[in-house]
Amino acid sequence: MKVDFYRHNLGEREVQRLREVLGGIILTTGTYVADFEARFSEYLGCAHTIGVTSCTAALHLSLLGLDIGPGDEVITTPMTFMATSNAIIHAGATPVFVDVEPDTGNLDASRIEAAITPRTKAVMPVHLYGQMCDMRAIRGIADRHGLAVIEDCAHCIEGIRDGVRPGQLGDAACFSFYATKNITSGEGGAITVHSPELAARLRSLRLHGMTSGAAERHLHFRHWDCEEIGWKYNMDNIQAALLPDQIKEMEDWLKRREAICQRYEEAFAGVAGLRTLKVVGSSGSKASNRSARHLFTLLVDPRHRDALLETIQGAGVGVAVNYRAVHLLKVYRKRFGFERGTFPVAEQIGDATITIPLFPSMTDAEVAYVIDTVTAAVTHFREPSGALS
Ligand SMILES: Cc1ncc(COP(=O)(O)O)c(C=O)c1O
Repeated sequence: MKVDFYRHNLGEREVQRLREVLGGIILTTGTYVADFEARFSEYLGCAHTIGVTSCTAALHLSLLGLDIGPGDEVITTPMTFMATSNAIIHAGATPVFVDVEPDTGNLDASRIEAAITPRTKAVMPVHLYGQMCDMRAIRGIADRHGLAVIEDCAHCIEGIRDGVRPGQLGDAACFSFYATKNITSGEGGAITVHSPELAARLRSLRLHGMTSGAAERHLHFRHWDCEEIGWKYNMDNIQAALLPDQIKEMEDWLKRREAICQRYEEAFAGVAGLRTLKVVGSSGSKASNRSARHLFTLLVDPRHRDALLETIQGAGVGVAVNYRAVHLLKVYRKRFGFERGTFPVAEQIGDATITIPLFPSMTDAEVAYVIDTVTAAVTHFREPSGALS
C-alpha cells in the first residue's frame, strides 16, 4: 500500500468555478476575492478579511500595517516554519525567539515577559499543528506592555481555545492556503483584522499602495494615486474562486481529521519509544477547546529519527519534519550567532519530530496501514528499554 503525505480535496466543483472565472474578464483581484473575503469573515466571526498571495505576505504586510520595522523587535517561536521569522526580517525588524512548551510545542507564554526590551513592538505566536496558543495570556502580556499581537494561523482556521478563535484577540491574524493546508488555493493567504482603518491600509498595501485596483477601473476609468510604497501581494480571482466551497466543508473535514487523530493517539499510546503532543482541553468541552488538527506529529528517539523517516517512507507512507528549530538553520546561526542549547525545548522537538499523513479523504485502511508501519518501525529501532533518550 502507498499512503500520500497529503491529498487535496479539490475536484469537479472547483473545475467548474475555474471555468467561470476564466470565462470572465477579470482574472486579478475582483468579485471572487470579495466573495471569499466575506465568507471567510463570516466563518471566523471577524470584521475584515484581506485576501493576499500567501501567509508569508500576510505576516509581512501585517507588520508593515502596524508600523513595525527597522530597530524593532518581535517576539516569536523557534518551533515554526521559518516563514514566520523571515517575515519579521523582511519588515526590517529583528525576531526574538522564546522557547516553547514541551507538551504542545507552542510559544511558552510564561517566557515572553523576560524577552521584552524597550525595542519590542509585537508578539507573533504560531498556533502550531492546529493547537491554539494561550491567547488570553498572550493578549494580557501584550496589553500590559503596549505590544501588538500578530497571529500566525497558517495551521489553524478551525481551532478554539478557552472559547477564543483565531484572530479574535490578535491585532492581525494571518492564514495560509498553501498546497497542503486545511483549505487550499495552491498558493494563497489572508489577513483578518478588527480595525477598519488597518483593513483599508492593508488593502492598499497589498497592491503597491494604490488607491484603487484594476477591477474598479475596468468599467469606468478613474485616476488612481499611490499613497505609500506597498507590495504586490493581492490575491487574484483564480485563487479566490477555489476557496468558498472548501469553507463550507471545513467543519466536516475537521471531524474526519479529529477521528483519524484519535485513532492515532489510541494506537500509539501503547507503543514504547514514541510520544505524541498534547491537545489542550481535549477532555473538556469541545465547544470551548478544539484543535484544528492540521498536522499529526510523533516524537521519537532523536538518535533514530532520520532512520525512522527512511524506513516509514520506504514502506510507502509519506512523512515530513515540522520543524527543525528555526534558530539552528544555517542562515539564522550565521546572522544571529545562535548555537545549539539556546532554546532546548524547541531543539528537543525539532530533533525528535516526525509528521505522518493526515487528510480527510484518508481511508480507514490507510490509517491502519500508517499505524502498523510506524509501530513496526519504532519497535525495530527501539532501545531494549523502550526509553526515549
Ligand atoms: C507556521 C507557518 N507559518 C507560515 C507559513 C507560510 O505560509 P505560505 O506558504 O502561505 O506563505 C507556513 C507554511 O507552511 C507555516 O506552516
